[in-house]
Amino acid sequence: MGISTLGYTLTFLAFIIYAVSLIRSYHAEKRFQQFARDNGAEPAKPVEYKLPWALDGMYRVLRAVSRGEDFFDDIIGKRLEEMNTWTYESAGLFGSVLVSTAEPRNVQAVFATKFNDYSIGKLRKKQFGVLLGKGIFTVDGPAWSHARALFRPLFARDNINDLVETERASNILIDVIPSGHDGWTSTVDLLPLFYRFTLDTATSFIFGESVNSQLAEASSETNNKKRREFAKFSDAFSKAQELISLRVKLQSLYFVADGLKSRAVTETVRQFTRQTIQATLARRSNVKEKQTGHGTYSIVEELAKSTSDQEEIQDNVLSLMAAGRDTTSALLSWMFYLLATHPNVFRKLRNVIIEDFGDSPSSGKKIGFAELKSCRYLQYVINETLRLYPTVPANMRTAIRDTILPVGGGPNGDRPVAIRKGQVVGVFIYNMQRRPDIWGEDADEFRPERFRDRKHDWSFVPFSGGPRVCLGQQYAIIEASYLTVRLLQTFDNITWVGAQGRPVKGMGITLFPQHGTKVRLHYADKK
Ligand code: HEM
Ligand SMILES: *[C@@H]1O[C@H](CO)[C@@H](O)[C@H](O)[C@H]1NC(C)=O
Ligand SMILES: *[C@@H]1O[C@H](CO)[C@@H](O)[C@H](O)[C@H]1NC(C)=O
Repeated sequence: MGISTLGYTLTFLAFIIYAVSLIRSYHAEKRFQQFARDNGAEPAKPVEYKLPWALDGMYRVLRAVSRGEDFFDDIIGKRLEEMNTWTYESAGLFGSVLVSTAEPRNVQAVFATKFNDYSIGKLRKKQFGVLLGKGIFTVDGPAWSHARALFRPLFARDNINDLVETERASNILIDVIPSGHDGWTSTVDLLPLFYRFTLDTATSFIFGESVNSQLAEASSETNNKKRREFAKFSDAFSKAQELISLRVKLQSLYFVADGLKSRAVTETVRQFTRQTIQATLARRSNVKEKQTGHGTYSIVEELAKSTSDQEEIQDNVLSLMAAGRDTTSALLSWMFYLLATHPNVFRKLRNVIIEDFGDSPSSGKKIGFAELKSCRYLQYVINETLRLYPTVPANMRTAIRDTILPVGGGPNGDRPVAIRKGQVVGVFIYNMQRRPDIWGEDADEFRPERFRDRKHDWSFVPFSGGPRVCLGQQYAIIEASYLTVRLLQTFDNITWVGAQGRPVKGMGITLFPQHGTKVRLHYADKK
């Protein structure tokens, strides 16, 4: 057989393969169209582009970002308004078509009623996998069910009711705020203090011992070996989180963020975690200490009771750290921004807190799980913060089979929308939680009272919903509530020192105030 004959044969084969794939996708398309018809589905309104490959759409996003416009308000919010719809189709990379929605019924379908039709998608695994391995956050299907079952009992109410460490971390936070004059503190950015608070309480919950990052940062004492190691870890963990958020921003181009530095940082975090897990388990088997020690609860010990796979424990521990740290501190940062810019709410909340909990822990009134949850106005303030600034403002899922969104199709948006297997559905929680037709004309205003007598539904899902609902919801609310009570017992006034006007949103793994939470606080006992 001569070269040319081989060439012809190969060309012919390639042609056959191409033809077969065309016929197959033709049939898949026909089947999909039939599926859509059977369900009475019609396409959602498409975003109109002027240039091929939606280049003008991409340009618009880049220009807006470089001008300091806001992704959620100025791009998505404006688009929804201009298109007069809550669900639309837009062009993704490489010819894919994305369906995006800010519609409660569709959100319910994606997260709950059609849960089994979706996966979290490859992108999440690639973006987070470097640091988190195969933890609960990055797996699907049976591996996820397994991790979820392992975790569920660990978040039982009894386990998050031990607030000794939270009290300790609250006192340290209050102590490290520098005092100024006239009974006021100096200007302080609360955001990094909240980050360390949640890192310290989360590590205590997970390992049974806090990494004490707040103290390490505040003290010049560096010859303590353990503290130095902890400081190195919390530093590396922050850097690793930054790398993940860079990967998230880069979307499909996530691999650009890889490099030697990234590998070194990830290795530091994983090594520390490995050692700490081993130390925790060694402590557990030390019976003598168990009898004398005060028996602090730790997730690691509980996990070790149901699995002996070290890698599995480590990946899950890191997933929890990533899920638990930035989210709760972002909630606290937005909440104190809102309190500082709404003096009436601050005053009302403080009165309620003093009434329920007294003016200090020594007033004899318990600050426990039940007491915090039944402090209604405090819970309204937290919910209203999570409504305006949901720490996870957008989410997405990939369809693993053809499926249906209940509404958003056709010219009036009242028909179902058919979603193809492999198609990505984006969910804009931020925009949904500010819809004027749901929340009223003052939807953009901070008004905690709106939660009074409100029935919980799918238009408010800061913790997501359905089988993959946040596991740490109660834990996060209790941590944030506790610290808020202690801060408002200690301080009776607050002024906003940050920039005026709409706060710039930082988008990492979570939504946070980009320029921090700069305030001054007034000590209640220094009149
Ligand atoms: C204000 C604080 C928090 C918010 C707003 C929040 C929000 C969320 C959201 C929206 C999800 C769903 C992500 C998805 O399915 O794509 C989630 C999942 C999760 N959260 Fe939270 N979270 C918070 C705090 C915490 C804390 C403190 C912990 C643990 C200590 C935690 C542990 C988890 C875990 C383990 C998952 C994965 C659940 C699963 O995939 O089955 N979260 N969270
Ligand atoms: C706050 O929102 C949660 C849902 O995230 C809900 O379960 C709870 O009842 C709300 N609390 C109040 C006091 O409105
Ligand atoms: C809180 O401080 C501001 C000054 O920053 C002052 O104008 C206001 O009257 C104070 N509020 C109370 C209740 O003392």
